[in-house]
Amino acid sequence: MLTLETIVALCKRCGFVYPSADIYGGLNGVYDFGPLGTRMKEHIRSFWKKTLYQTDKTIIFFEGSLLGPTAVWEASGHIENFTDPMVDCLNCKKRFRADELDLTKACPSCGKMNWTQARKFNLMFKTQMGAMEDATSVAFLRPETAQAIFINFKNVMSSYRVKIPFGIAQIGKSFRNEITPKQFLFRTREFEQMELEWFCKPDQASTDFLFWLSQRKNFYEKLGFNMEHLRFRAHEKDELAHYSKECTDVEYQFPFGWKELEGIANRGNYDLSQHEKFSKKDLKVFDEETKESYTPHVVECSVGSDRLMLALLCDAYHEEEVENEKRVVLKLHPAIAPITAALLPLTKKLSDATFPLFNELKKKGFSVQFDETGSIGKRYRRQDEIGTPLCFTYDFESDNDKMVTVRDRDTMTQQRIPIDQIETIIKEKLTY
Ligand code: GAP
Repeated sequence: MLTLETIVALCKRCGFVYPSADIYGGLNGVYDFGPLGTRMKEHIRSFWKKTLYQTDKTIIFFEGSLLGPTAVWEASGHIENFTDPMVDCLNCKKRFRADELDLTKACPSCGKMNWTQARKFNLMFKTQMGAMEDATSVAFLRPETAQAIFINFKNVMSSYRVKIPFGIAQIGKSFRNEITPKQFLFRTREFEQMELEWFCKPDQASTDFLFWLSQRKNFYEKLGFNMEHLRFRAHEKDELAHYSKECTDVEYQFPFGWKELEGIANRGNYDLSQHEKFSKKDLKVFDEETKESYTPHVVECSVGSDRLMLALLCDAYHEEEVENEKRVVLKLHPAIAPITAALLPLTKKLSDATFPLFNELKKKGFSVQFDETGSIGKRYRRQDEIGTPLCFTYDFESDNDKMVTVRDRDTMTQQRIPIDQIETIIKEKLTY
């Protein structure tokens, strides 16, 4: 049984993820991404973007600000409703989410029974802008990327000259002051979201919701997820947010249970109507067919890239017994693996001959690594552990016959191939 601790340890050991401010004891619910984590996240973003482009739909990419004024969050409902119920233990002063505890029982931390009343805790990070400290200088770090899209919907539509239906997609950081950040990258206070807001005519929204549901299913299949670890769970009527007409959560079976990975929702015209009401600006569009104005409806697909990274790592992690030794291998999709190919001289004597091959691939933009230290067996294992799909080994024959050995991560088979085919083999692996 895979444990979260195994993944956390691998992430730190290999340079995927470190606790933030580690040398100062860490910052709870905040993480830094190491060399491999940075590359893996880049690959996750590209995969998400590319699969959106592959749909034939008009999708426009956008980058909104991280800070937003109070008015935006009043309109969106975050000031009023973006809260979790919180209780404190008066004995040990620890703070908990009231909905995750049985308040008729003692404190899980100190064992005493001395709770405060449950009260609402707003999850947004509030800050002050400029030198004046009054109500007008208050700003909030965004708790979701979506609102910046809604408030720029008209700007994008007119400046980019697009017509309904179209989508605005955004990848960026969001911040939530979670009362109890936990389970590593699953629930953090600073995280990245990949959100698509699809604007359509009201009578098209339910059909488009189903379309995006199937597209998102394709995305997870293409990523190579074990589909038994993934389920699409439609919300019951009483689970739906008041503005939401339909909503389906994509859930993944993490080591700590089935949890939400992505939310797909038909949000009706709630968001644009709210911003119209609060900003008093017209966000309607004119329908050339009916000659009437209407407020577009929105279908949203929202996934956290850090949470997705955790799911991908859990799904890819395998331990096998090979020649009486444990082999740890991350069977990541080649396009997601942080390193696509490793270039390995059989011994250090061959480093000078191998390095130019690595350098050439690196200059062409491939994610490659050069590794000359340790036995070749150890180096293969190192690459297996970080999910590198291909290793190319340059040996004492290579100079004469212009061939190298390519080794496959999953099958561990080795084959001799001409050096001038390396690039083609890498490209084939990266195709999806
Ligand atoms: N705009 C809709 C929205 O933000 P959400 O369900 O609150 O909806 C969407 O968040 C996704 O963002 C979640 O499915 C999850 O993948 C990610 N996410 C939310 N809170 C997170 C947190 N504290 N840490 C990591 N990822 C988070």
